[in-house]
Amino acid sequence: MQEKKTVWVTGASSGLGKATAQAFADAGWLVIGGARSFAENTSDEENFVRLPLDVTSPESCKTFAEKAMAISGRVDALVCAAAVLVLGSCEHTSCEEYSRVMETNFVGTTRMVQYALPMMRQQNSGRIILFSSINGLLGIPFQSAYTASKHAMEGYAECLAMETRRFGIQVCLVEPGDHRGGSDHTRLHATAEDNQSIYHAAYESACAAIHRDESGGLLPDALGRKVVRNAQRRHMRFRLRVAKFDQHLAVWLHRYLPNGVNSLILRNYYGADKANH
Ligand SMILES: NC(=O)c1ccc[n+]([C@@H]2O[C@H](COP(=O)([O-])OP(=O)(O)OC[C@H]3O[C@@H](n4cnc5c(N)ncnc54)[C@H](OP(=O)(O)O)[C@@H]3O)[C@@H](O)[C@H]2O)c1
Repeated sequence: MQEKKTVWVTGASSGLGKATAQAFADAGWLVIGGARSFAENTSDEENFVRLPLDVTSPESCKTFAEKAMAISGRVDALVCAAAVLVLGSCEHTSCEEYSRVMETNFVGTTRMVQYALPMMRQQNSGRIILFSSINGLLGIPFQSAYTASKHAMEGYAECLAMETRRFGIQVCLVEPGDHRGGSDHTRLHATAEDNQSIYHAAYESACAAIHRDESGGLLPDALGRKVVRNAQRRHMRFRLRVAKFDQHLAVWLHRYLPNGVNSLILRNYYGADKANH
């Protein structure tokens, strides 16, 4: 039986999931990381085992859980960071594109939680760490699919925390603001959002703002260490918001300003009212 604490991390091949997985490994945990693919030059280390995982496939999740249990026989923490983003207007994002985002970001998470929960209940302990986002708290133009998936995560986490507390299980929502280093292949554009779109100018402006904010964002490694510190606390904080001051401010304004004022600020920031010429 494995004596080290074991954490499963989804989305462990890049960005914040990878940084969090590495921070757990550095802190002495055994990390079992999953993603659809890992960079060719990565190989397993003593503390960091990589397994194939597609959270949209029930079969793949089952195989991951079985292999992970065969490796360590326990799961002390589950980190769900796997996600994709499809940018596009509400009018032009197809139902298939909405489904794809919900299936990866939300349903995939619920699947992995269901594999970890029986073992955590048996152990009478466990930490479930779900990656939400500032987008889980407020909407941003042209990110409706992603925003909806992260709002779903927020509600789900509250339910999960209440249902599992009596089994010694604690839940945390990580709410990152913009961070650098995200992978390009998980940032997609709605197929119908082309240069003939009525939203084209506004969409281009919003995409430029999103790109600028991400490339000037915080460093993933620092977030990874914060997640681990929280996971190791006796009482884990339920919400771990890691963002620059302006994004904390945006959440605060969203909560306290009238909707019309808040909407005006965000529309101006992202250029959502820009018409095509
Ligand atoms: N970066 C930011 O600024 C930011 C801000 C707020 C919240 N977040 C959240 O933080 C988490 C990480 O985001 P990121 O931008 O840092 O990461 P990212 O570079 O976009 O990586 C996403 C990860 O999810 C994995 N993934 C995607 N689809 C998957 C699937 N079907 N099955 C299994 N794994 C899958 C990807 O690996 P494969 O493609 O190889 O499967 C990759 O490891 C996400 O939950 C995101 O919503 C990020």
